[in-house]
Amino acid sequence: MTEPLVTLDHLSRRFETGGGWFTKPRAMMAVRDVSLAIPKGAVMGVVGESGCGKSTLARLVLRLIEPTAGQVRFDGTDLTTLSPAALRLMRRRMAMVFQDPYSSLDPRYTIADVLAEPYRAQGLPMPEGRVQELLAQVGLSPAMARAFPHQLSGGQRQRAGIARALALAPDFLVLDEPTASLDVSIQAQIIALLEDLKARLGLTYLFISHDLGLVRYFCDRIVVMYLGAVVEVLPDPKAPPRHPYTRALMASNFTPDPRQRKSLAALTGEIPSAFALPPGCAFASRCPVATDLCRRENPALLRDESGHALACFHPQS
Ligand SMILES: Nc1ncnc2c1ncn2[C@@H]1O[C@H](COP(=O)(O)OP(=O)(O)OP(=O)(O)O)[C@@H](O)[C@H]1O
Ligand code: SF4
Ligand SMILES: [Mg+2]
Repeated sequence: MTEPLVTLDHLSRRFETGGGWFTKPRAMMAVRDVSLAIPKGAVMGVVGESGCGKSTLARLVLRLIEPTAGQVRFDGTDLTTLSPAALRLMRRRMAMVFQDPYSSLDPRYTIADVLAEPYRAQGLPMPEGRVQELLAQVGLSPAMARAFPHQLSGGQRQRAGIARALALAPDFLVLDEPTASLDVSIQAQIIALLEDLKARLGLTYLFISHDLGLVRYFCDRIVVMYLGAVVEVLPDPKAPPRHPYTRALMASNFTPDPRQRKSLAALTGEIPSAFALPPGCAFASRCPVATDLCRRENPALLRDESGHALACFHPQS
């Protein structure tokens, strides 16, 4: 494909928690040394279980939070060293769609106000007729402009969230589980809308999901994360996965129900605490083919000439 729109270089983010009266502060790496290139016009998918660092990665990419180490380049510009003023200008070209349209839309504002907010934040006048244009783009009726979020259905609210993201005509959207809180039928409609918008507006997507099936359907390439690190990159969604973790993700039947998202039925063994990662491969405690080598050494992420990247001593074939 073409040159990358977004490049991540050895991106890491550490969090410290605790440090109350009775607890020592503890540190963990929510994102560990992630390097990726998102080509212009691509739909790059990121999958992994709850807590593996997907949302942290999403926020790092837009520099909504600061990295502990590493770089994010957007269309050739290093976002991580931009001044606040320059970053604000750059932000016009990128936006985020959140998982939960219930909490990401302010209940006190009408949809027209919600769509005007990105213009206010940038100190830009909103062009005449822009609200109606945005509503039409996401398949909402003109009358919705005067509605409040609670008057909309879940699917309509997510459409409004997408319209807000499109307000400043960005090139790049980060979609953080945009359909995870919706019914399956509504989910399909939102995915169809995203496909249509991408084709019409020439967008590039970073699409985050815990659902490998959905990602394989929707994305051009797939990044699999485990405990903050990339363990496999599939350059083609139909390429057979070779990492035991990706294999397990594929074999398990994911449900949209977040209560069932914590564990993979196919895997036994404990997920290690992110605060105390063992030496060696982070997946060893759950891996059906782990050896002593795996428990001793950490496999590097190696890329072959097809672009397939893999961090595993014993790849499956
Ligand atoms: N602000 C924060 N302070 C401390 N720890 C955090 C913070 N944000 C995230 N974390 C921790 O970082 C890890 C990754 O969290 P993140 O939200 O990125 O995961 P996720 O893959 O998006 O999960 P989910 O699928 O549940 O949305 C988790 O262990 C989480 O507790
Ligand atoms: S390196 Fe070893 S433990 Fe890790 S995924 Fe590969 S086989 Fe399993
Ligand atoms: Mg998340």
